[in-house]
Amino acid sequence: MKKQLLLIALSIYPLLTYSQTQQSLSFYAEKCSINVGAAVGSAFYSNYNTNSTYDLIIKRNFNILVPENEMKFAVIEPTQGNFDFSKSDQLVNYAVANRKSLRGHTLCWHSRNPAWIEAGLTNGIANGTFTRTSLMSILKNHITTIVTRYKGKIQHWDVVNEAFNTDGTLRTSIWQQVIGNEYIDSAFVWANRADPAAKLYLNDFSVENYGSAKSNALFNYVKGMKNRNIPINGVGFQCHFIVNNIQYSKIDQNIKAYASIGVEAIITELDIRIKKTDYETDSATQLATQAENYRQMILLCFNNSNCKTIVTWGFTDLYSWIPNFTSNVYDYSLIFDRSYNPKPAYSSMLNELYLGSLSANNSIINDNSTLRVKEIGNKIIINSDMDMIRCQLFDIHGRLLFNSSSSVKEIEITLNKMPLSLIVLRVQLSNEQVVVRKIIKQ
Ligand code: G3I
Repeated sequence: MKKQLLLIALSIYPLLTYSQTQQSLSFYAEKCSINVGAAVGSAFYSNYNTNSTYDLIIKRNFNILVPENEMKFAVIEPTQGNFDFSKSDQLVNYAVANRKSLRGHTLCWHSRNPAWIEAGLTNGIANGTFTRTSLMSILKNHITTIVTRYKGKIQHWDVVNEAFNTDGTLRTSIWQQVIGNEYIDSAFVWANRADPAAKLYLNDFSVENYGSAKSNALFNYVKGMKNRNIPINGVGFQCHFIVNNIQYSKIDQNIKAYASIGVEAIITELDIRIKKTDYETDSATQLATQAENYRQMILLCFNNSNCKTIVTWGFTDLYSWIPNFTSNVYDYSLIFDRSYNPKPAYSSMLNELYLGSLSANNSIINDNSTLRVKEIGNKIIINSDMDMIRCQLFDIHGRLLFNSSSSVKEIEITLNKMPLSLIVLRVQLSNEQVVVRKIIKQ
């Protein structure tokens, strides 16, 4: 009996102590083959390579970075044909030196265009300053120059950003009005010619949930692009969410729809804002809910092989676009607080990635052993031809759900109610080898 208790204690041990580990998000994410990243804004430039907390958090936790603003049209080509790469070069050099991947954001957008492009609109309507040919040539030069400069150093490009309206129609940006809808296809072709190895994305907000007018429109458009052989690798779901207001199953359904047409659907600008008045009333509950929301977003990546990148829009509440954008109604959207302390959301992401890394490691052991794990309905059947086995099953919180009493060749576990989302199975073989496997329930 004592031995059994010890076994249980030992098996729960890693689940209870993971949050105290010194490991980081990217440490575990890499074991799960997931990119976990953050956007970096103006604070990056006074912090990078200084060993400041800001610098160390990026270095330790993220394996992919995105410039929040520094590659937008107005910043990088402020006057026609004159490119200012000073900011983008610093970030690219940092990423190369620190072996981080990069997402380039963004080559073509209706917003943050320089005055010389904006001059082509009067009250939002194209005014004849540019002909179709001249604007095509401007966009082609812009895309070709930037993508060529960073060829091999920027792995993802948000080629076109926010091209759709809520009703599913194409947004009447200057590009759409003067060039026509083909500006999207052309932008992807030019980017692909400049760096055929870079992955190219159409990035947008409010396209995460399956079935809305806007997400249907984006899906159908991307399907059309694939049919026209346009080089698109994926869509970016921005994921600017409000706490406790995320429809995971609709997002999951949508990601799977993209998988069915061979397209990635990745998470590019995640933040989960909290209403300030709610935070002031009960910050602990709000932060716990937010942590669960972030955890579920990681699960979407585990559940979908075409969703292997998750990027947050910043990482500290000190620098977030949310308070300003929402007139201070919302805040606290990121995973570190204003003093760079990790929030519960950070721990929940770390925990989830840790658990994922266990199953990633142990799937290798599974392949080489005679152990088989089958899931049929609400039953889990574990058997081994050669080994005697015993096992324990835990829920996400490390609580023991099942413990086999003796070593046998086959164990059948029936749970009346499978816990939602995730359980961890720990099997001990007769040679004392331990196999841990994560099972995700929809
Ligand atoms: O650079 C100027 C500075 O010179 C000037 O003194 C200052 C005065 O307001 O403004 C500075 O520019 C601001 C820029 O951020 C850099 O801080 C702009 O006014 C401000 O509008 C801009 O906001 C950015 C916004 O995109 C518009 O470009 C946010 O930081 C950035 O988080 C946000 O990011 C977007 C993504 O690109 C696309 N998806 C949505 C996401 C959130 O809106």
